[in-house]
Amino acid sequence: MLTELVKRSTPLPAGSKLLVLGGGFSGQHVATLVKALGNTVLCSRRKINSPGADLAFDGATKLLPAQKALEGVTHLLSCIPPAADGTDPVLACLGDQLKTLPLQWVGYLSTTGVYGDCQGHWVTEADHPQPQQARSKRRLKCEQAWQASGLPLQVLRLPGIYGPGRSVLQSVNTGKSKMIYKPNQVFSRLHVDDLAGAILHMIHCAANRQRPVLINVADDKPTTKIELLRFAAKLLGKSLPEIESFEAAATHMSSMALSFWQENRRVSNQLLCKELGYSLIHPDYHSGLRDCFLVEGFKASQTNHL
Ligand SMILES: NC(=O)c1ccc[n+]([C@@H]2O[C@H](COP(=O)([O-])OP(=O)(O)OC[C@H]3O[C@@H](n4cnc5c(N)ncnc54)[C@H](OP(=O)(O)O)[C@@H]3O)[C@@H](O)[C@H]2O)c1
Repeated sequence: MLTELVKRSTPLPAGSKLLVLGGGFSGQHVATLVKALGNTVLCSRRKINSPGADLAFDGATKLLPAQKALEGVTHLLSCIPPAADGTDPVLACLGDQLKTLPLQWVGYLSTTGVYGDCQGHWVTEADHPQPQQARSKRRLKCEQAWQASGLPLQVLRLPGIYGPGRSVLQSVNTGKSKMIYKPNQVFSRLHVDDLAGAILHMIHCAANRQRPVLINVADDKPTTKIELLRFAAKLLGKSLPEIESFEAAATHMSSMALSFWQENRRVSNQLLCKELGYSLIHPDYHSGLRDCFLVEGFKASQTNHL
């Protein structure tokens, strides 16, 4: 919940100016938090008339912000995925310009997909990336390009991001969820409030010379999809479909969905939460889904767990 997040977060130093490139679901959430803390924020979207857009940037059409608009930017967050050819749209179009800015911190949102399949084991930043999907190979290439940029960078490796407006509550509520069982398969996840909270925390740590270049940002509790859906159903007072085996479900899954089920890992947050001392607002899906339920104003059932 934004009020809780604002209460526990420390503003950026006076005079800071944050540029969020790609103000979609995550970028917009970070921008809203930092604005609420009283700092200056600029947010890009591909169309200037999109909600929350302060400037237009589109790497594909080479629609670039005016040089003057970026003057004085001290902190940068890129939330823009790789282009189809594996290049990074921000570095390709704005890389030289970024080097002229007084940047103190640069964050690049990446994915834990770069680790590939870990057969359900815990994975840390020390593990060698072994991307299997083509999109994860592109992602690793972008991470490497950012690391080679010489900017004061942190690469945030993220599992599935959820929050109000983007969670399993929607599919359970509309009866569109699928109860798929694959032995030992878990998924890690992160509530978008913790993405925003962790970013601010990391910026302050970096100012105190604690800036690990690679950092996983995930909650404490990787879980099966079935557990997650059961909790959502309990909150909503809805019933769920019968469980089906992964083998049966795979015959009618999209190739994107299939690719997620082909990888199994538990994403460790020890570096963020133990070494850098970030305290999660939503350590697990119980707390995170309850928050979505309340913020979205779903109607409580007789049996829900609030
Ligand atoms: N969502 C997840 O579960 C998840 C998990 C792991 C990693 N990630 C990664 O984290 C980042 C943020 O995720 P998200 O869920 O917040 O994504 P999102 O809602 O799709 O936002 C992506 C943003 O990038 C902008 N964008 C896309 N292509 C662009 C281009 N060629 N040039 C300029 N801007 C472009 C979009 O512009 P518009 O605003 O105009 O659409 C949007 O603002 C992404 O890189 C995503 O791949 C996401």
